Amino acid sequence: MDKKILITGGAGFIGSHVVRLFINKYPDYHIFNLDALTYAGNMENIKDIEDKSNYTFIKGDIKDIDFINALFQKYKFDAVIHLAAESHVDRSITHPNDFIETNVLGTANLLNAFRDIWKDNLENKLFYHVSTDEVYGSLGKIGLFTETTSYDPQSPYAASKAASDHLVRAYGNTYGIPFVISNCSNNYGANQFPEKLIPLFINNIKNNKSLPVYGDGQYTRDWLFVEDHAIAIDEIFHKGKNTDTYNIGGFNEWTNLDLIHLLCKQMDKKLEREEGTSAKLITYVKDRAGHDRRYAIDANKLNKELGWKPSVTFEEGLSKTLDWYLENEDWLKNVTSGTYQDYYKKMYD
Ligand code: NAD
Ligand code: TYD
Repeated sequence: MDKKILITGGAGFIGSHVVRLFINKYPDYHIFNLDALTYAGNMENIKDIEDKSNYTFIKGDIKDIDFINALFQKYKFDAVIHLAAESHVDRSITHPNDFIETNVLGTANLLNAFRDIWKDNLENKLFYHVSTDEVYGSLGKIGLFTETTSYDPQSPYAASKAASDHLVRAYGNTYGIPFVISNCSNNYGANQFPEKLIPLFINNIKNNKSLPVYGDGQYTRDWLFVEDHAIAIDEIFHKGKNTDTYNIGGFNEWTNLDLIHLLCKQMDKKLEREEGTSAKLITYVKDRAGHDRRYAIDANKLNKELGWKPSVTFEEGLSKTLDWYLENEDWLKNVTSGTYQDYYKKMYD
């Protein structure tokens, strides 16, 4: 085997796409997928690759220092691609400490363990930290986030990711750990837990439930198809410059309301309902506390230096996504039973 790569959070939404891409594209790498299987982690997301010979799944928590140290001592990973995190802004408002513990302390545990095994020999090693555009805060009507935009996180989620980014840079600077960081905009696609806007609304439309639009619905996000994020991570992992940051985005800004209307229209077609049926479910609800008005990414550095660009238009990506959720009814049913119902009641009733 050429390289032993630890991918954290590989049973989650984005991580599952990254693990799949690496396993299939690089048979000479051995991929270790470390995931605590929280509510967001799901073995179903990676069912198709579980028997691959270059793959090992490890259930474990990045918060557990002793476990993490022993794991790194045992396997001596050449590289880490770190995605494991608490990832939902609304949950960070109700349970901020979960985010601080996993996103900040968990990242520190990985950095310490990585430093401890390689401190005398950091050549050809890499710590790749996957982060979010939310660290930059909120934009006004104009402007884009670039790699040099100052950090200004506004939610506990964003602050915990910002702190983890700072730790990675500080470990690079202090201990010489080779690293790259990417900050990506909102992802959508298969396997996303239905707490985030797009899968939550797909599920509600299917079940004729109301579509809870926060505030005036004029918040803007820059949407990227998850498989394009995985491809960008592959490019940056292999060709990114040591200590550099790369912004990843879809060049694809939508206000929530415009996006929801597009989603409703596509769902009406796919469910063979009369046009306008799903849009009738739109309901305005109380706004999210501290809601960031607009995110938009300037992904030109990644485009110019590494040649990456999104492979699908939003309409195509969204259509593929809806097809996936409609074809994978069992997946959706399984993740929306049990504790999801309690979450939904607490959040939306
Ligand atoms: P997700 O919530 O779908 O998945 C997170 C995964 O991490 C789950 O499998 C979960 O079980 C695992 N995990 C959580 N806590 C853990 C712990 N303590 N130890 C081990 N595993 C743990 O998240 P996602 O949307 O796939 O996001 C993945 C990464 O990408 C995160 O770091 C997130 O900040 C970042 N990101 C996400 C988006 C987005 O739009 N979803 C955009 C930019 C960046
Ligand atoms: P979300 O998918 O939670 O991503 P993020 O907050 O990380 O950008 O939300 C996307 C946008 O949709 C955001 O402006 C909040 C809004 N939203 C709603 O209006 N209603 C909802 O039920 C959810 C989950 C989000």
